[in-house]
Amino acid sequence: MLIIHASQLLTLTKQPQRGTHLGHLGIIPDGAVHIVDEHIAEVGTSSDLLAAHPHEPILDAGGRVVMPGFVDPHTHLLWAGDRAAEFEMRLQGKTYLEILQAGGGILSTVRATRAASVQALVDENRPRLQRALAHGTTTIEVKTGYGLETQAELRMLSAILQLDAELSIEILPTFLGAHAIPPEWRANPEGYTDHLCGEMLPAVASWWSEHASGRPLPFVDVFCETGAFTLAQSRRILEKAKSLGFPLKIHADEFDNLGGASLAAELGAVSADHLVATSKHDIEALAASDTVAIGLPCTPFGLAEAHYTPAQDILAADGLLALATDCNPGTAWCESMQFAIALGCRYMKLTPAQAIAAATVNAATAIGRADVLGSLSAGKQADLLILNVSDYRHLGYRFGTNLVETVIKKGVVCA
Ligand code: NIG
Ligand code: FE
Repeated sequence: MLIIHASQLLTLTKQPQRGTHLGHLGIIPDGAVHIVDEHIAEVGTSSDLLAAHPHEPILDAGGRVVMPGFVDPHTHLLWAGDRAAEFEMRLQGKTYLEILQAGGGILSTVRATRAASVQALVDENRPRLQRALAHGTTTIEVKTGYGLETQAELRMLSAILQLDAELSIEILPTFLGAHAIPPEWRANPEGYTDHLCGEMLPAVASWWSEHASGRPLPFVDVFCETGAFTLAQSRRILEKAKSLGFPLKIHADEFDNLGGASLAAELGAVSADHLVATSKHDIEALAASDTVAIGLPCTPFGLAEAHYTPAQDILAADGLLALATDCNPGTAWCESMQFAIALGCRYMKLTPAQAIAAATVNAATAIGRADVLGSLSAGKQADLLILNVSDYRHLGYRFGTNLVETVIKKGVVCA
């Protein structure tokens, strides 16, 4: 297939964009893409590609922007139950961590998720993934972490694998057994940490080799935060995961600066995420590593808090920055990377071009897939969007409406 007449073909770059290099869109005016099966074969101008491939079926973009599909590298999109009442409590003055400490928050979703069958999880979460796809997310990371016991966590992984097989959107799973201290371990967080290291992680590794037919192991993530896991507990869990061969991620500095970002850099984690209360020292440690800093602007927005990821400091230190939604029932129910971009422009002071690069090629790097995703480069997967606008800066500028007209996943029009 040949897609022609893109007003602006945003090719981005094959490689991630570090520090102040962020924002290279590689724009081809009146651009075209040649897709062969699931992959991009060539990009160029419409006249060159039409001349070279006169007999290919044509999809005319009609003077609209064509770009890579968004990669959303951090979500908790799979859950059961509802937390609308908690939103109202927060508006009336309760904080997120107060609600969690009183047994609500994540723990209320844990109760509902533990009670759900795999099929119920699949059915409840299918529409969320379809919405993400319709808003241009062609690949998404989805975490467990609402089971917090082996069997319930494995049901979540099972539901993720089923949804990945069923839907066009591609899902990369993360095991987040260390999302909160479950109620039955409340008095003994060290005991739960031992249980995670000694029982749950090995159980996930062996379940995976039996059920995921050759797919790479999921990521392992830890919520390193006051009221969740200490830095020392996070280190134990991540070191154990690393020894079992899992790639690593961490929730660091969402509320308090515990040093999780430096730990991520030291252990070679793929990403360190949230990074709101991150110190200068931690930013420097991250920037000196290949660990991607993921900013999640929907989260402070969702909590009506004033502080966002200090993106400019991360870029000035030469760090790798990506954007994600954090889609979850507590802090940020948002399936749209377009909205994360709009917030990133306003509160992280990114230009639209920087935000787009952070949401595509750098986001692909943040899930270890920059070799196949995130740019319109020959050989990468043909995951593309046709927007309903002719100037890419409408991404960022506009919000609350869907600017994606057509979604193509692995060469197939799917939304
Ligand atoms: O990324 N920080 C921890 N986890 C989520 C919230 C999960 C929830 O409240 O259900 C977050 O903000
Ligand atoms: Fe999160």
